Parts: sequence; C-alpha cells; structure tokens
Amino acid sequence: MAGPILVFDSGVGGLSVVAALRERLPQAALAYACDNAMLPYGRREDAWLVRRILAVCDAAVRTSGCVALVVACNTASTLALDALRERLRVPVVGTVPAIKPAAALSRSGHIGLLATSATVSRPYTLRLIETFATDCTVRRIAADPLVREAERRLAGEAHDAAVIEEALAPLWEDPELDTVVLGCTHFPLLRDALAAAAPREVAWVDSSEAIARRTAQVAAGVAPAAGPGASFATAPDAALASALARFGFAAPQLLHLD
Ligand code: DGL
Repeated sequence: MAGPILVFDSGVGGLSVVAALRERLPQAALAYACDNAMLPYGRREDAWLVRRILAVCDAAVRTSGCVALVVACNTASTLALDALRERLRVPVVGTVPAIKPAAALSRSGHIGLLATSATVSRPYTLRLIETFATDCTVRRIAADPLVREAERRLAGEAHDAAVIEEALAPLWEDPELDTVVLGCTHFPLLRDALAAAAPREVAWVDSSEAIARRTAQVAAGVAPAAGPGASFATAPDAALASALARFGFAAPQLLHLD
C-alpha cells in the first residue's frame, strides 16, 4: 500500500526542507517525525545517538507506513546513515552539509561551515571538505545555540539577536569569507536573522534543494501516497503542534519506542 514520505529531525529543523520537498513533489503526502524529547542532538555522545536515532526512526517508519525516509538532520545523517539503511526496509535520503555547492559558489575560496558541535567535527564532514573543498579555506564553527533559537522562533517567540551575533562572530574573523554553509537544518529557519546579523553580504547555502532533488529520484521508484500528512513526536508539546500545523501537518501522535 502507498504511504507518505517521512521527514525526520530532532526537532523543527526538518521543516526547513519541507517547502523544497513540496515544490518538487506537490502530489506526495509528507509525514513528519521528530525526537523533541531528546532535542538537541548536537552535543550528545555518538554511541547513544546512533541507538536513539535507530529506535525513533524505526518506530516512526513503522507507525507512519512511509515508503521513504528523509533524514532532514545533518547531525543524524553524518553519524547514522549506514546504520539506518541497514535497519530499515525503506529507502533513506540523508542530509549532509552543502560543502560542494558552497565551494563551487565562493569567489574567494573562503567558506564557513555553521553546524552543530557534532557535525563540524565528524569524520564524514571532514571527508566532504577534503573531497570537495580541497582548494578552499574552510572555517568550521559550532553554533549549537542557534538550534534553540530556531525552536523558539517556531514556537512563536522572538529570537535573541545577541545569541545569533555571538554564534556568527567567529565567521567574520576571516575577512575574505564570502559563503556560509548552513549545515544544520534548523538554521535556514533563522535565515533573515542571520543575514541581519552579518556585517557584510555573504551567500548562505543550505541542502534543501539537493535533498528535494534526491528525494524526487527515490520517490519515482516507491510511488508515495497523495494527501495531507500525519506527524509524530516523542513528547507532548503544544508549541510544536502549532508549528507543525502551520506547515500543514496534523497534530503529532506520540511515538512508542521499543
Ligand atoms: N537539525 C539538526 C541538524 O541538522 C540538529 C539539531 C540538534 O538537535 O542539535 O543537525
């Protein structure tokens, strides 16, 4: 039976790729799952995180009846993609920092990677830089507080401009830097605030278009259902429910983990 395409993140970050997915796949039903009980993922220990991501994605895939899983989380993808593909019966699309397009776009060859502590130091990320940005100077900046700011913004609260300014400050130490990779799916949700905090114009590059393109290729082989989508969470949260509703998702059902 046809099911939806399931988008997974620790929190609301995956919503930053939903628009691109809907544009590429206007007929496909999307469902959304998040592990809001354990948010944020970015400072958690790897072995624990792999077990947790497998447990949550396994439960969400079974409960949603999805035909494909989009892991809309760099922190999860750079760690657990192989394990997820081994465990799950559906195709899995991952999200990794857009180093390659950023290196192609930058004129100066000086780029920044803004992501969680986990993502900026993962071997997967270092390999991406070695492979696709050999000729570039790449500043890797851990910006975990921005995850909370994006969550707050989607919960209807104002973001804290001082937190954003402080998180971005290390980028501007390189006067030639002209391109910034948003290597956490939460960060595009703050794009206007990030641009407002920047002392000069830079290009902000995220992965949502690439994820949508790859998901469309996968969807061609699995025929997703049409229609509106369910959502799933690991803890009750009224603010999350209204953020999901604004993105067209039904109120979250609580996931039961094995
Ligand atoms: N949105 C997630 C990412 O893309 C992670 C946020 C977090 O839970 O730390 O990395």
